[in-house]
Amino acid sequence: MGAKINFLREYISNPGAIGAVAPSGRILASRMLDGISLESATTVVELGPGTGAFTTEILQRISSDTQFILIEKNPVFLVELRQRFEKLEIIEGDAGNLVHLLHQRGIDTVDVVVSGLPWAAFPETVQQSILSEVHDILAPDGRFVTFAYGGMHLLPRARAFRHLLESFFGQVERTPLAWRNLPPAFAYHCKR
Ligand SMILES: C[S@@+](CC[C@H](N)C(=O)[O-])C[C@H]1O[C@@H](n2cnc3c(N)ncnc32)[C@H](O)[C@@H]1O
Repeated sequence: MGAKINFLREYISNPGAIGAVAPSGRILASRMLDGISLESATTVVELGPGTGAFTTEILQRISSDTQFILIEKNPVFLVELRQRFEKLEIIEGDAGNLVHLLHQRGIDTVDVVVSGLPWAAFPETVQQSILSEVHDILAPDGRFVTFAYGGMHLLPRARAFRHLLESFFGQVERTPLAWRNLPPAFAYHCKR
């Protein structure tokens, strides 16, 4: 319950950076990750983990040898994440500096990037620069996974985002909607 209250409080103080009133649920987390070979991934990065809704599910699917790194820029969520996942490497930083942040740590390629970022709240220039970073760091057969809210995908801005994904990635697939998520949402699975 604490995580939900923290999430709502952060949304009220900075809606543009948080982009949702509640953390994603387990059903959406499964939609995001089903079909993604996390168990064989060497390096996995999560962008915008928030209160850790996807993090918990990722941890259950990776192997003990996988290097799993979180990048979050909200200081309140960072405190909570560091308490909950004390063994994980959690970087305070901006997803727009992804390549630099990982190069600093000696990482040149990532097998899976999972995003909880609020794309709809970002201007197109920010969307482009983050997607470019993700594209550049992904291994040739790597996967990028992100989510969008149902119904919204019919709106012009959401359609423009899908086109943007298609301009960066050779393959973009939509999962079925997770109806029981609040609000209902689906995932995009992208391959270079
Ligand atoms: C919609 S919340 C998603 C949280 C969680 N993944 C979930 O689905 O419940 C968006 C998260 O992205 C973070 N965020 C927003 N912009 C960011 C950026 N440029 N770099 C890193 N994190 C960012 C926010 O602080 C917030 O934790």
